[in-house]
Amino acid sequence: MNAATVNHQWRIAAFPQGEVRDGDLRWSESPVPEISENQILVRNIYLSLDPTNRLWASGEETYLPPLKLGDVMRGSTLGVVEKTRHPRFREGDVVMGAQGWQVYAVSDGSDVSRLPRDNRLPLKAYMGVIGSIGLTAYFGLLDVGRPKAGETVLISAAAGAVGSLVGQIAKIQGCRVVGIAGSEEKCRWIVDTLGFDAAINYRSGDLAQAISRSCPSGVDVYFDNVGGDILDAAMGALNLYGRIVVCGLISQYNAASPQHTFSNLTHFLIKRVRMEAFIVLDYLARAHEAYAPLTQWLQEGRIQYRVDIMKGLENAPAALAKLFDGSNQGKQLLLISDEP
Ligand SMILES: NC(=O)c1ccc[n+]([C@@H]2O[C@H](COP(=O)([O-])OP(=O)(O)OC[C@H]3O[C@@H](n4cnc5c(N)ncnc54)[C@H](OP(=O)(O)O)[C@@H]3O)[C@@H](O)[C@H]2O)c1
Repeated sequence: MNAATVNHQWRIAAFPQGEVRDGDLRWSESPVPEISENQILVRNIYLSLDPTNRLWASGEETYLPPLKLGDVMRGSTLGVVEKTRHPRFREGDVVMGAQGWQVYAVSDGSDVSRLPRDNRLPLKAYMGVIGSIGLTAYFGLLDVGRPKAGETVLISAAAGAVGSLVGQIAKIQGCRVVGIAGSEEKCRWIVDTLGFDAAINYRSGDLAQAISRSCPSGVDVYFDNVGGDILDAAMGALNLYGRIVVCGLISQYNAASPQHTFSNLTHFLIKRVRMEAFIVLDYLARAHEAYAPLTQWLQEGRIQYRVDIMKGLENAPAALAKLFDGSNQGKQLLLISDEP
């Protein structure tokens, strides 16, 4: 097959045990599909790598139907319409959806949303701030965490895609913001560039002591992206009527035997802490409420973001691995093909 007619995909070959290893995903090749009436052919440009990809690859029931062996790996994408036989789409339209770990996908239009044709934001913004990352940070913090001005908000994975936005939104709400991250560089970035009040490198020293030092008035909202020991340490610092927002548990996604023991549950009881989990999909119908302020803050320079872009679909498993070893610098994306 010559290049113009070939599609490439990553398919599930074996359900990963622990971290995703060589052989769990299979590189495959097939002809670029033909479209029928009321269909479009999408060429994927960006693939979003998300910690939840590990859960999707597990073959287990999650908040989405489980994938089967042989399925194309699920993934959120932004792409361009290359061919259309659909009345609502033109060639060159940019669409977002979950077209998976592949170069070309066929859609009937029901599973993609079209970007405004007069769009003036960089396409990358839609894979982060003006996309599901933005919705996660906005609704997770404001709807679930409900911070008030003057309160202390503590965030884990604070230099990551979601965490870095949560901290900036909390600053806009007038909160004191402390981030937990896994390197000195990440700690410097969230304080010096994003304006967090303090940062803690969880890989150096006693975390509980560092939290007490950085949060002298205790913690009112803990926005949890990681779970495990960091959740336990944060739990011990919560104030009366504190809130824990369970956004993600990345420390547990690869774990053969997840951590179940928490040493600070008595503190949790005494302080009447509310702990609530959420999934961003629950907020899709309210997306417009978040996109308006997020777009404005972005355009005013009140929120910043960074993207870490790896190139080439063949590197998708390596890009996913970066989320789990912490080497991603902000929102992890993969450039599958060139922007139009
Ligand atoms: N509830 C929802 O709807 C929803 C939606 C989107 C995302 N999420 C969750 O939000 C969290 C962050 O996602 P993201 O896309 O923004 O990723 P991210 O924060 O950009 O990247 C993941 C980060 O997690 C940290 N990490 C990895 N393994 C860790 C471990 N064992 N212990 C502590 N930290 C670890 C690393 O940062 P360090 O270098 O700081 O360790 C890594 O950079 C994830 O848990 C994800 O599942 C939830």
